[in-house]
Amino acid sequence: MLKTLSDDSATGPTSGAAAASSCSPGLTSGPWLLDAGPGDTLPASGYGPGASQDDPIPGGAPRQGALPASYTEASEADLHERIRVAKAELADRVVVLGHFYQRDEVVAHADFVGDSFQLAKAARARPDAEAIVFCGVHFMAETADLLSTPEQSVILPNLAAGCSMADMADLDSVLECWEQLEEVYGTETDDAGRVPVIPVTYMNSSAALKGFVGEHGGIVCTSSNAAAVLDWAFERGQRVLFFPDQHLGRNTAKAMGIGLEQMPLWNPRKPLGGNSEEELQDARVLLWHGFCSVHKRFTVDQIAKARADHPDVHVVVHPECPMPVVDAADSAGSTDFIVKAIEAAPPGSTFAIGTEINLVQRLAAQYPQHTIFCLDPVICPCSTMYRIHPGYLAWVLESLLAGEVVNRITVADEVAEPARVALERMLSVAPGARTGTER
Ligand code: 13P
Ligand code: SF4
Repeated sequence: MLKTLSDDSATGPTSGAAAASSCSPGLTSGPWLLDAGPGDTLPASGYGPGASQDDPIPGGAPRQGALPASYTEASEADLHERIRVAKAELADRVVVLGHFYQRDEVVAHADFVGDSFQLAKAARARPDAEAIVFCGVHFMAETADLLSTPEQSVILPNLAAGCSMADMADLDSVLECWEQLEEVYGTETDDAGRVPVIPVTYMNSSAALKGFVGEHGGIVCTSSNAAAVLDWAFERGQRVLFFPDQHLGRNTAKAMGIGLEQMPLWNPRKPLGGNSEEELQDARVLLWHGFCSVHKRFTVDQIAKARADHPDVHVVVHPECPMPVVDAADSAGSTDFIVKAIEAAPPGSTFAIGTEINLVQRLAAQYPQHTIFCLDPVICPCSTMYRIHPGYLAWVLESLLAGEVVNRITVADEVAEPARVALERMLSVAPGARTGTER
């Protein structure tokens, strides 16, 4: 039987989440039921079971072809063994990277597990490996391709593993926005030599947007370095256009002392993003109308309940959560910040966590000396991270062994060059700076 998040016996109970229900009955089935190919069972909209299942998939999103039956019908133990054997035979020819949100059965085979900033760095730490198998989502694999050598292949085990938030900003809408901003602000620098606007894109965006940012004097950020990146941007620009995640942008800028009235929301469907010219003149950070459907689920009421049930609880959330949630938490930071907060806590600590359920459940299992639970009582994973199943991992590794590279992610040269500029700017700014906030 497949190990699923709706099966407590398989995932192990987490203190506060043991009695929770699952957000989707679809989590009991293999993701290939959604990936059978064009014209088959792939739904017209929605990313599949999990928190972002109701977000619409853009028309051009990559589709995964059918997975051979020898993988879909294999038992969990069989797949585990096939992955182990294939990895052992491939040895140094392959490196497997896994994001913290991947299911345990995938994490078990990763050579490196981390947050998106760490994984970007890990992608170029092994230039000797001929293939990087990226167990994460599409934008992470694109970034790995940008940072690895041209000889290396980056492989995404399931092409349908996108990111609903990244898909909320597309190049055409950002170009249109930029044109309107140039009309409002002009292109002249001020007395301090700062340009009117610096574009900043969250790592959770397509390579095309990273390329746009690189071409327009901008930079990439992750949730572990967003404040340091905004400092960099404000040294060079009077304002920042931040996309696609409004919440990370708002939470970071607010912590830097920027007033909410100076952070208008840019709705790409409205002229001037739904703002007046005066509002735009006063703006310091223009926030794109994007969000993560996983982190949108966390609420201030959940935090109040956690505090009522556990008076000594430490509430730690990801900065993709809405601002009132981040404000009500004790601390906020990237997935690695959350992991480190738990590692550093004295035995017997209690944590309520506001991030993706796979990570929360793994931490609860790894640190039985603490009480660790998810703020959201409904067990609901990221529906796109969920698409990476051991069946796909076994398939890409056994294909490599057979001399075939499947599901290679390649960023076109004309996009890759400026996108690398934006990523290198981030890598030169970021190390260790301002990784999270304590309240
Ligand atoms: P991290 O950079 O914290 O790993 O976040 C990535 C992500 O997609 C969170 O939703
Ligand atoms: Fe994207 Fe949210 Fe999933 Fe992260 S958790 S990959 S932001 S949909």
